[in-house]
Amino acid sequence: MYTEICNKYTPEKHNLIQILHEIQDTHPQHYISAEAVKTVADYLGIAENHIYGVLTFYTMYSTTPRGKNIIRLCESPPCYIKGSQNILRKLKSMLDVQTGETTQDGLFTLELSACLGVCGNAPVMMINDDMYGDLTDERVEEIIEKIRRGNQ
Ligand code: FES
Repeated sequence: MYTEICNKYTPEKHNLIQILHEIQDTHPQHYISAEAVKTVADYLGIAENHIYGVLTFYTMYSTTPRGKNIIRLCESPPCYIKGSQNILRKLKSMLDVQTGETTQDGLFTLELSACLGVCGNAPVMMINDDMYGDLTDERVEEIIEKIRRGNQ
């Protein structure tokens, strides 16, 4: 699977970021494994340590398995002012996790994010590729329950 992804790109160092993105996005647990790093290093002819350096520099990458749904709650000032801390409390209690953790059923990982670019709808969170704004406790409940139902 990792070789197939690599083969879509020319074996040049400048393709590293795109390859890593695709590997993470297509993995059901949204992470980049040691095996993936080795495959990419061999393909691009670069050191594995260089790739780990990139993976730790960018917060969007994970080297540990994550949930099926990645929740990214914006913690930048406009969302903070509009109550993102309350939303964070709600998510933590609903999911029974702390920031950075994955639920027991592997369905959700809770993360924080810098501005998601839709401050007019603060507070905002993103779940995988979907954006949710104007969050309230009730709305968070609806969104999470809907996703849970969809996975039964
Ligand atoms: S500050 Fe939260 S989306 Fe911009």
